[in-house]
Amino acid sequence: MKYQRHKKNNFRKLTMIVWPKLMVIVVLVGLISLTNSCTYKFVEPESMGLNPTDTVSFAAQIIPIFNNESNCTSCHKPGATSPDLTAANAYNELTSNNLIDLNDAAKSKIYYYCEPSSTSHSWKKYSDNEAAAVLLWITQGAHNN
Ligand code: HEC
Repeated sequence: MKYQRHKKNNFRKLTMIVWPKLMVIVVLVGLISLTNSCTYKFVEPESMGLNPTDTVSFAAQIIPIFNNESNCTSCHKPGATSPDLTAANAYNELTSNNLIDLNDAAKSKIYYYCEPSSTSHSWKKYSDNEAAAVLLWITQGAHNN
């Protein structure tokens, strides 16, 4: 009799406590795999608050990508690895080293070499937003603006 009750309690414990918890875990795992399977990487200028019709400023938007926290200039600076991407020299270096292709912006080395899915230049890549800004700047004529 005593044994029977004990068994029954165990069964109650299983249905009332363990089972609902299991269900929660199953639902959570399902949701996580669902959201993961639906993540796409878009490189959209809009994600930076940039609109394709906004003019990208080389000085205000591109130079900081190269220079902020020595993102690129830790290596690309005077006397070190070419191109020198410090504020004073970046524009001249980009043009004199043929890193910009005005006919096909996406074929510009300063873009494709470091864009997020690039297989070259394992040193450092742009974030999606940075890549979008660089591409848009070139599309607009890569002015020293
Ligand atoms: C840790 C050092 C390092 C950092 C940081 C770095 N690079 Fe480089 N980069 C290199 C080296 C080394 C090379 C030359 C070898 C190669 O092509 O991978 C190079 C090559 C390049 C080239 C090709 C130059 C040419 O004339 O062919 C470009 C363009 C470039 N880097 C852009 C960038 C940009 C933009 C950033 C910042 C987002 C950056 N790099 C950050 C080390 C670095």
